[in-house]
Amino acid sequence: MTVFDLRSDTVTQPTAEMRRAMAAAEVGDDVWGEDPTVNALEARAAELLGKEAAVFVSSGTMGNLVSLMAHVPRGGEIIAGAQSHIVRDEAAGHAVVVGASVLQLRDRPDGTLDPAEVAAAFRDPTDPHEPTTSLIAIENAHSHSGNQPISLADTERMAAVARGRGVPLHVDGARFFNAVVALGVRASDLARPADSVTFCLSKGLACPAGSVVTGSAAFIGRARRARKLLGGGMRQAGVLAAAGLIALQDGDAGMIARLADDHANARRLAELLAELPGVRSPGDIAQPGGDHEPLDPARVRTNFVLFRVAADRAAFLAAAEVRGVRLDYYPHGQVRAATNSGIAARDVEAVAAGIAAALDEVTVRPQVAVGP
Ligand SMILES: Cc1ncc(COP(=O)(O)O)c(C=O)c1O
Repeated sequence: MTVFDLRSDTVTQPTAEMRRAMAAAEVGDDVWGEDPTVNALEARAAELLGKEAAVFVSSGTMGNLVSLMAHVPRGGEIIAGAQSHIVRDEAAGHAVVVGASVLQLRDRPDGTLDPAEVAAAFRDPTDPHEPTTSLIAIENAHSHSGNQPISLADTERMAAVARGRGVPLHVDGARFFNAVVALGVRASDLARPADSVTFCLSKGLACPAGSVVTGSAAFIGRARRARKLLGGGMRQAGVLAAAGLIALQDGDAGMIARLADDHANARRLAELLAELPGVRSPGDIAQPGGDHEPLDPARVRTNFVLFRVAADRAAFLAAAEVRGVRLDYYPHGQVRAATNSGIAARDVEAVAAGIAAALDEVTVRPQVAVGP
């Protein structure tokens, strides 16, 4: 049976070209700054995002954590969305490691924060009772709203609030290139308003591991020190960085441009699912459990299709799995199908058919009385 794995884009396998490059990578001791392949990856990432410098880290979580450590003092406070990965999914590293609190704001359905709410959330720096607002952190693309890309204009609005209050803006760009491709902008333009941007190589870009943090040379110096403190100095890490260099190549040689295929496949899948009576809108993240409208394919702008089912969710996911369609539980009662490099355009109809059959199996129909 063919298995279609749409649980996440983290399930992607390195390409044959990546594996060849990894095997042949020239390496050195990266903690001493001597790994030529890591150095080349960091230079390429900095160039692409239009920043002075970059540092290669093991994961998106570490990228965010070293960024927080480099930006935020103990007793500082981070303003972030309540549904953001930093708040929900990073084991409270901001509290455990950084010694900072997070002031959580409502994420809007388009993945943005309200600039007026952000401005109003700043603490009084002259009051010794209060934490010190030290950073605004946003997520682009924004996972819990369905991986919505955050526009350059929205990023600039957030940067203006940050600049006006003298704090930096961090972008958790785990899927930054999905946003870049969906918006049709240059990565350096979308990154420009931010002081720091992280991105993951290990998601839609299909590398086996690794993320990159970008920013000013001074910030990256502090992030590099934080990486060492966390035990993230990886020595001959060029073996991993080599895959990243393949992914970040321009055009069809790299893995960025092809994200457009994942987006088109996700949109097509959403169109097919929207025709199924048992498939419902994922609802509004601001009001979890809220509406149960039909799925709107126009909201699928990158590679996530979030939806709910008018059936028992666990039974549905198990029935889909039996048919070779692997989907993931997502918060707020949602299901996630994330298109990725393992799913071709020709697979989309088979995935939708598997979902339709699984729903059919687990949908309880009202009993119709027969006979007199
Ligand atoms: C928005 C966002 N930020 C950060 C991360 C963390 O990445 P990693 O799993 O590599 O630690 C993820 C992972 O899914 C993510 O979705």
